[in-house]
Amino acid sequence: SAPGLVDSFGRSATDLRISLTDKCNLRCTYCMPAEGLPFLPTPKLMQRDEIVRLARLATERLGVRQVRFTGGEPLLRKDLVEIIRGVAALDARPEISLTTNAIGLAGRAVALADAGLDRVNVSLDSICAETFAIITRRPFLDKVLKGIDSLGAAGIGHTKINAVLIPGVNDTEGPDLLAWALAGGHQLRFIEQMPLDADHIWDRDIMITAAEMRRRLSERFQLTPDSEPRDGSPAELYQVRARGASLDDPSLGTVGIIASVTEAFCEDCRRTRLTAEGGVRSCLFSHTETDLLGPMRAGAGDDEVADLWRAAMWAKPSGHGMNAAGFVQPERPMSAIGG
Ligand code: GTP
Ligand code: 5AD
Ligand code: SF4
Repeated sequence: SAPGLVDSFGRSATDLRISLTDKCNLRCTYCMPAEGLPFLPTPKLMQRDEIVRLARLATERLGVRQVRFTGGEPLLRKDLVEIIRGVAALDARPEISLTTNAIGLAGRAVALADAGLDRVNVSLDSICAETFAIITRRPFLDKVLKGIDSLGAAGIGHTKINAVLIPGVNDTEGPDLLAWALAGGHQLRFIEQMPLDADHIWDRDIMITAAEMRRRLSERFQLTPDSEPRDGSPAELYQVRARGASLDDPSLGTVGIIASVTEAFCEDCRRTRLTAEGGVRSCLFSHTETDLLGPMRAGAGDDEVADLWRAAMWAKPSGHGMNAAGFVQPERPMSAIGG
């Protein structure tokens, strides 16, 4: 069969991340400026049938096996249920997941599950209402917790919680957050902050590193490396036990560390991304995008679109280059790139 999305370094992208909107109802400091951004006008966004067509192409011709919807905040798309239903109906049905802040999820979890949503990752950096409001600049912790609670009843399991640790803001809350996640049966993943903020306040010298995360968690818990293969996930997993517990005791659950900066995983990267306006980004840190939506709207056939996508991915950089001299932060922040 025709080649999939291979790059010049021998990697092959089987995980597709589709941003559905650049809008968000939070303003997390590491992602969006307080005043928001000039958001895309609706006609520039991919429509449902365009999204489903690209997902079909990706799964039928390009070897994609997982589709994750991101944003901005994907729940802001009124047609999210229909989009998921369309992708779930594809002949080569991919695994379908969502990365969300969970606001408004409670009212839609059952419909999303029925439509075919398999897994959800929720971004939550603090379970302290005050800290949450400082990081997100919005007082919506209760809505997020309600959203998370609705997942179990909707039959969506294996929820992961993503927490970015920010020096001087929530970095001392790690163990409390982990205790909360373990009690709820969720896999918590601590994330090294990356230079993708609109305000360019990221500072390597004060960022909380993976090594520091492990050190702080070890003050309360005992972490042992998990033996399961990582399988393209950015997280290094650990089994968690109480400090001093015997390794014969069952673990309390797992915790992940996403060390994008200090222990980069680019060599094993399996990702390809579509921005909300239908551009391919071969890497989170690419400086170029390849427009697919424009050609599609101008009448390009599947072969042509697939070729454009392949060419974009062939040019994927070897990695983010954050640790090399001359690193330049992408001009668009995380919310506009697609998380
Ligand atoms: P699964 O492991 O399949 O559940 O999904 P995921 O972890 O890939 O997706 P998620 O959207 O939950 O992303 C988790 C975190 O990984 C994000 O918060 C980012 O910090 C980081 N991340 C996501 N995509 C990339 C990427 O392409 N490169 C790097 N370096 N980090 C990424
Ligand atoms: N660094 C690391 N992770 C980030 N996210 C957003 N911005 C950043 C950043 N600058 C995370 C969010 C969300 C995921 C999609 O990306 O916490 O979980
Ligand atoms: Fe892949 Fe780029 Fe992310 Fe590295 S930074 S893991 S190459 S998308």
